[in-house]
Amino acid sequence: MTPAVVQPATQVRLAARPRGQPKLEDFEIATAPVAIPGEGEILVETTYLSLDPALRPRMNEVSAYAGAVPLNATIPSPALGIVLESRSPLHRPGDHVFGMFGWQSHATVQGSEARRIDPERAALPRWLSLLGLSSFTAYVGLVELGRPRPGETVVVSAAAGATGAAVGQIAKILGARAVGIAGGAAKCSAVVDAYGFDACVDYKAADFLEQLDAACPDGVDVDFENVGGDILRAVYDRMNPDGRVIVCGLVSEYSRDDGFLPGPSLWPAVYKSLRIDGFRASRYFDRIPEFVDKALEWSQAGLFTHREHVTEGIEHAPQAFIDMLAGRHFGKAMVKI
Ligand SMILES: NC(=O)c1ccc[n+]([C@@H]2O[C@H](COP(=O)([O-])OP(=O)(O)OC[C@H]3O[C@@H](n4cnc5c(N)ncnc54)[C@H](OP(=O)(O)O)[C@@H]3O)[C@@H](O)[C@H]2O)c1
Repeated sequence: MTPAVVQPATQVRLAARPRGQPKLEDFEIATAPVAIPGEGEILVETTYLSLDPALRPRMNEVSAYAGAVPLNATIPSPALGIVLESRSPLHRPGDHVFGMFGWQSHATVQGSEARRIDPERAALPRWLSLLGLSSFTAYVGLVELGRPRPGETVVVSAAAGATGAAVGQIAKILGARAVGIAGGAAKCSAVVDAYGFDACVDYKAADFLEQLDAACPDGVDVDFENVGGDILRAVYDRMNPDGRVIVCGLVSEYSRDDGFLPGPSLWPAVYKSLRIDGFRASRYFDRIPEFVDKALEWSQAGLFTHREHVTEGIEHAPQAFIDMLAGRHFGKAMVKI
């Protein structure tokens, strides 16, 4: 049956597979009709789109991570929205929801795939930043896997970004020392000022390794790895016995045309008894309500905050994504529709 048309949606689609860093020509803006919701479905008007580095490997022809995005398909993405119509017992028109609505102004999805959010508990963009998936990733990665003990040193790369900023603050809440790694002296100062890290090291500086040694005089107990490449190697070399390497992402390798880099030698993992854990936050989604309660409690106590980097207009999503990969943002990058 041909779906009935309610209104046109503005969509951002994958027009070409990028070589290296994505370019504007790799995306196209299109208009398409949205289906009237069928049984169990809801029609959502999106309000905010999330910009996430893991989209970049999914733009390749083959992606082991969550599957390659087909050419000409709408860019998949977490987003916030308002329910316009519902044929699901789970939602009513006017409800605010979170789901994988993609880079489009409207989406028809299964009601069971949307999670209700409460704007009375926190303003809308907070549900993508402070309470969003990147902060949740920081929470499960650190609390469940990194398990820092009071006084231990946690190093997190991409510290000024959505996940890294949350990692440092949660490390502090757990009583550990938080050392960030970010690009540029100004960004590093902002990480310390805005999020209360004990130190932040500039990986673009010529004396990066000396800065890292000075910031970690007792070595590293937990590496929360967001970047990979040379930064991973530098931190790995400084791991203490019984340390934990939490592999959350490898953003510095996502745009390489010749694939991911080989990792550092596993030999130190043997003689230092290191634990190396890779993880996907989606495995822990049943713990989101627990995380939201904790994050709000910490926020009210003045211990947990987040910055939002908001770009206005869905047509600017491609440039905002390119900028986010290049680090031209501070905090959680998102697009307001
Ligand atoms: N495992 C999971 O379930 C999961 C879930 C969410 C996110 N992640 C991962 O977490 C990491 C951070 O994601 P996010 O959403 O929070 O993004 P983000 O940190 O807000 O933005 C990406 C940051 O990566 C840094 N970066 C980019 N290229 C780099 C390079 N060549 N060398 C060093 N730094 C580079 C930039 O920071 P600078 O300006 O400091 O260079 C940029 O700000 C990513 O690896 C992502 O895939 C994993």
